[in-house]
Amino acid sequence: MRRRARKGGGRQVELTIEAIGGRGDGYASVEGRPLFVPLTVPGDRVRARVVSEASAGFRGELVELLSPGAARAEPPCPHFGACGGCALQMLEEPAYLAWKEGQVDKALSHAGLAPLEWPPMLRTPPRSRRRVSLAAQRRGREVVIGYRQRLSHRLAPIESCLLIRPALQDLLAPVRSFLQTAEFAAGDVVATDCANGLDLALGGLQAADLELRERLAAFAEAQDLARLSLLDEDGTWEPLMVRRTPQVDFGGVPVAVPPGVFLQASKEGEEALVAAITSEMSETEGPIAELFCGAGSFTIPLSRFGKVDAFEADEAALAALDGAVRSNGLSGRIAAQRRDLYRQPLRAAELKGYSAVVFDPPRAGAKDQAAQIAQSGVPLVVAVSCNPATFARDVRLLVDGGYRLTRVVTLDQFLWSPHVELVGVLRLSSD
Ligand SMILES: C[S@@+](CC[C@H](N)C(=O)[O-])C[C@H]1O[C@@H](n2cnc3c(N)ncnc32)[C@H](O)[C@@H]1O
Repeated sequence: MRRRARKGGGRQVELTIEAIGGRGDGYASVEGRPLFVPLTVPGDRVRARVVSEASAGFRGELVELLSPGAARAEPPCPHFGACGGCALQMLEEPAYLAWKEGQVDKALSHAGLAPLEWPPMLRTPPRSRRRVSLAAQRRGREVVIGYRQRLSHRLAPIESCLLIRPALQDLLAPVRSFLQTAEFAAGDVVATDCANGLDLALGGLQAADLELRERLAAFAEAQDLARLSLLDEDGTWEPLMVRRTPQVDFGGVPVAVPPGVFLQASKEGEEALVAAITSEMSETEGPIAELFCGAGSFTIPLSRFGKVDAFEADEAALAALDGAVRSNGLSGRIAAQRRDLYRQPLRAAELKGYSAVVFDPPRAGAKDQAAQIAQSGVPLVVAVSCNPATFARDVRLLVDGGYRLTRVVTLDQFLWSPHVELVGVLRLSSD
């Protein structure tokens, strides 16, 4: 039973942190249940305040670090702790990597899975994220920009961020100055660094204000933005000025980026995932089915190994892929279709005849779709995921259907966060 949260003023306890939980918070046992204390590492002796209590354990906050654990490191970012963008900068490198790999190991073991091959985790570098989603807020005359604090809607102002590309970093100060002089109380700031310039969307502005629109157009010119959009309260994007259609490059093919469409967090991460997927394709000569294809970051590179039938629910992503296919003479190699794969998974009978299936669902995974693939008899299946728990559940269905998990590649694309990306390779067992 959930009990009422006691914000602040909760009892204080002294304890030694035992391990780090799935969300990146250190914990220790209190009355037989875990007390999670963000920003702590194993071996830390701390004084913590109990903030809230639930059946699964207690949530706490660090009051004082009495003595540091052996794996404690100096966080590289001055905003770490207050800012909710990163959870694990206080952990030294080897312990950080071991923790991330441990999350995957736990999920795989829980599902009774043991890959034949599991190379060390791949990593993307700092300052490589190509999209950032921030909040801005007026505080008196100033406007501050930042991430939300952890488990809170409260904004933690930042001046710099080690995660994002320099072009995104350089945009923060001009955006802040612009919002300061506008009639602006609060809103989102979403920016993507595309191959041909920045794609910026701003929330919290009065879309009907003509003078503001003129000033925004001048701002787009001054910053040489590719596109500037307004974000409405209901989450829709209104492109205000398109100076160049923002494009990304998938496997050497330019693809127009619709506002807000899914993109892998970094070009480096996308390339690492593509390499992990296509390294298995050399022997594939027949057609490939790709499920949850987005705007085609895997589809286009995959089309070198066989004709790809790609499926996706998001119309804008499909239109972008379709446009790239047509204008680059790829129509004979790629056929993209709209399909809601949760309501209508590709059935085993529809998958027969493909030589490979690649699927990359959202965090919730694709249980029903995996159950159909398991019965399909397709010789090679590549499962891509950003969630070890649903990955393990879906892969278990495939293994129960007669596949062998031959290889798992892990990728740290969301640096200093608890997230891990995975690619699992499954081959139909011959025995
Ligand atoms: C993790 S993304 C992967 C996209 C693509 N593989 C890429 O790397 O760019 C998951 C994709 O699943 C799509 N999706 C979400 N729900 C869906 C559904 N019910 N049916 C089909 N696609 C869906 C999203 O639009 C998104 O493009």
